[in-house]
Amino acid sequence: NNLDNQMLIIFGASGDLTVRKLIPALYDLYTGNFLPENFVVLGVSRSNLSDEAFREKVVYSSDFLKERIEKDGKEKVESFANMLFYEDLGDSYDTDFEKLSNRIAGLDTKFKINRNYIFYLSIPPSIYEVVAKNLADQKLNDESNGWKRLIVEKPFGYSLETAKELNVGLQKYFKETQIFRIDHYLGKETVQNILVTRFSNSIFEPLWNRNYIRHIEITNAESVGVEGRGGYYDKSGALRDMFQNHLMQIVSIIAMEPPINDSPEEIRNEKVKALQSLRIMNDEKTLFENTIKGQYLSAVIGGNKVKGYREEEGVAADSTTETFAAIKFFIDNWRWKDVPFYVRTAKRMPTKVTEVVIHFKSPHHQIFNEQGVYDNDNKLIIRIQPDEGILMKFGVKVPGQGFNVESANMDFYYSSLDDGDIMDAYERLLLDAMQGDATLYARADEVEASWKFVDPILNYWATSKTAITHGYSAGVWGPKNADDLIDGIEMWRNPCEN
Ligand code: BG6
Repeated sequence: NNLDNQMLIIFGASGDLTVRKLIPALYDLYTGNFLPENFVVLGVSRSNLSDEAFREKVVYSSDFLKERIEKDGKEKVESFANMLFYEDLGDSYDTDFEKLSNRIAGLDTKFKINRNYIFYLSIPPSIYEVVAKNLADQKLNDESNGWKRLIVEKPFGYSLETAKELNVGLQKYFKETQIFRIDHYLGKETVQNILVTRFSNSIFEPLWNRNYIRHIEITNAESVGVEGRGGYYDKSGALRDMFQNHLMQIVSIIAMEPPINDSPEEIRNEKVKALQSLRIMNDEKTLFENTIKGQYLSAVIGGNKVKGYREEEGVAADSTTETFAAIKFFIDNWRWKDVPFYVRTAKRMPTKVTEVVIHFKSPHHQIFNEQGVYDNDNKLIIRIQPDEGILMKFGVKVPGQGFNVESANMDFYYSSLDDGDIMDAYERLLLDAMQGDATLYARADEVEASWKFVDPILNYWATSKTAITHGYSAGVWGPKNADDLIDGIEMWRNPCEN
């Protein structure tokens, strides 16, 4: 391949993300021959580890690589592991940058890296700025000789104000074009495919508007609970953890206008415009009527007792943090005026599934008998995960006498494509950053537009007596009240039930 030689410097390298996501993604890029000729990974964190100990931790004893290691054999794995190095930094990530800079320079010379560096910040956002400043002090932001990129993980901000502060803080030391804000949902093949399905088929785009679409529904469900992350989650909640970032990114791609081409800036310009058109909910009545929060309660699932959210480690006994969020909202622009969007996300649902349902309007004049009022309406169901693919529901004649209509399915699965192997999200995103392609990374203005919409909901939930945290038993589709949100037009589509 034609990638520049480069070094990936991972801050927070002894953390979970490195071993769970980044190293497996790099390993797959390596075995798929996607890496540049000369490539070095330098792990950086506060733990004191040798290069060998780091390799042992993230490669040789990694549960996430076990199967691949067995399959590929010792030699292959060793040649990958030998690209990994490690350097420790002071307690606060605020010292030792000269030492780090020297280490980088040493590796650079040895492996002919030509000063092309990606700094990956898998560290708390509170120290993003200080790390960016320390890198700049060592001229490690300087692009006069080799390029420099900065990847930052979520959460990007805790509110609109803190997101703005982060943007300002980072932009003091790195240009916006150097900053890559990761949102792993954008790395998902099926999310990218929304763009392609919309803008490369003349059968969908002409209908993709208020004239033909009645409403849009997005469900993001997980069967797991907070999985040992109670401390983080209790301060975050579903809205910050999933909605502000991943789901708003999906919304922006569903709602955007056609970009004039596929360049990163043109695509992101259109996404940001869609987000800027979100109708902000400011008054208490609107917020009460259009937002539902919930929290899972203990239950017995498959014979096992599952803890309620408040019993999870790190969660306050009187916590009102939401593990379920359902929001109805509108996008005030020409295309979407008055088309409701219903979006829900939750932990401890019956299954893990993410899907987008485009509900089309009924034909103006119905001449045939339908089996059920809405059953035969056209729906386009984009299955983000699992069973990645697209399902189209349309009406066909019930065989036999008369003209009755029933619903039929046209179903596409990625797995049926010859090259249907789906690249992992982190693999795709890392490869894009290595190439300098920011299309699938969130721009500063996108993040801010999304926070601007989410902030009033969070404030309302945190401060108003009318913002009730509804309980739901672990293993069901959320609190009953969320059903009322969907306006009586139809119930939520619960993916594993129909
Ligand atoms: C992360 C959230 O960003 O996304 C987690 O912090 C969540 O709480 C995860 O479980 C879901 O990702 P995916 O790819 O499994 O849907």
